[in-house]
Amino acid sequence: MIEQTFAGRSVLLIIGGGIAAYKSLDLIRRLRERGASVRPVMTAAAAEFVTPLSVGALAADKVFSDLFDREDEHDVGHIRLAREADCIAVAPATADLMAKMANGLANDLATAVLLAADAPILVAPAMNPAMWSHPATQRNRETLEMDGVAFVGPNSGEMAEAGEAGAGRMAEPLEIVAALRDLLDSLPMPLAGKRIVVTSGPTHEPIDPVRYIANRSSGKQGHAVAAALARLGAAVHLVSGPVTIGDPADVEVTHVQTAREMRDAVEALLPADAAVFAAAVADWRAQTEAGEKLKKAGGKGPETLPLTENPDILAGVGNRTKGRPALVIGFAAETEKLLEHGGAKLARKGADYIVANDVSPDSGIGGEGVMGGDRNRIVLLSPDGAAEWPEMSKDEVAERLAALVAERLAE
Ligand code: PMT
Repeated sequence: MIEQTFAGRSVLLIIGGGIAAYKSLDLIRRLRERGASVRPVMTAAAAEFVTPLSVGALAADKVFSDLFDREDEHDVGHIRLAREADCIAVAPATADLMAKMANGLANDLATAVLLAADAPILVAPAMNPAMWSHPATQRNRETLEMDGVAFVGPNSGEMAEAGEAGAGRMAEPLEIVAALRDLLDSLPMPLAGKRIVVTSGPTHEPIDPVRYIANRSSGKQGHAVAAALARLGAAVHLVSGPVTIGDPADVEVTHVQTAREMRDAVEALLPADAAVFAAAVADWRAQTEAGEKLKKAGGKGPETLPLTENPDILAGVGNRTKGRPALVIGFAAETEKLLEHGGAKLARKGADYIVANDVSPDSGIGGEGVMGGDRNRIVLLSPDGAAEWPEMSKDEVAERLAALVAERLAE
């Protein structure tokens, strides 16, 4: 049950050291089944209550816990952990963690991330009722609320300590999910009012009534880009070649078969504020489409198939002098010389950015590889140079590209 609010969203979950940490395992599951990715950070005390192994297995991600781990800091770093999250949940938040947050302490990874964060933060306190009602904790809660931190719970009821009852139980995982939904839904929409055209998928170029020229594109990357842009509030129109995946939510879709149909659909959708060309458009089509199924040559050897070039849709839009979208982003699928060939496309096609990806079998991306698979590793080329992104899911590539579009269109 993927939910639009959570799909493709990244939740940084900070697990504090309390008995309620066991509920965080269920919280991870609930968030992931709704389409969010969960990146866990555990305090040292949290690891006394639940194991990093269980947390990492449920999150399907690395568990971060050490501010001074050279490998973690090199790979991701506490600043990136903080910045890459769409929102942060602190569950359970102990009295100690709340006190550190309220006072801006940053002496471990969890608190350093919280101090560096610009994403919205939700705190789910869990502690003994006497600790919760203590004036110091209540002062810290007020301070945090004044800093814009949202709270869910604590609930009242029996505590883990025998015979103790009162306010201090951590909110249930589904209550935390609901509070995170409210938080995410209340985020400003940086692309509200912007029209964006996205192309995705392959094209099929007919040879005869039963055969066509095609490629292995699944549409996963382009569709993810369209969905991520829509989540930031853009009015997105996706022009999709023939794919087997469903249409993204909140996106208008035109389905086409051929490059020429894709070109006509894109041209009809202009003007737009931005255009992203993720489709793997066939460069050639059969010179003539046979009206009947072609027959074998009857022992005369293989037939040749005369080809003619298809229109270059990206170049047509990128090189426009009138009515060019303010931002034009192309992709480049290469099997060799990624930077050289991608860079040449940047200039030739008039794009502001080229997202270059290696689609060769030895790209190092497992599974079906970049074309067809779920992961990608891209180099973002622009007149300013090349930025290499680490391997990530296509949804994460899309999120980061959507953030770039929002940043550029705000300029
Ligand atoms: O669909 P997936 O399985 O998720 O795979 C994703 C992807 C590999 C298809 C995607 O990440 C990608 O690289 N898309 C571009 C594929 C491609 O056709 O690249 P190209 O180097 O041939 O073309 C360069 C650019 O020109 C692309 O933006 C392409 O959309 C555009 N183009 C190309 C030819 C043409 N006739 N018209 C175009 O608009």
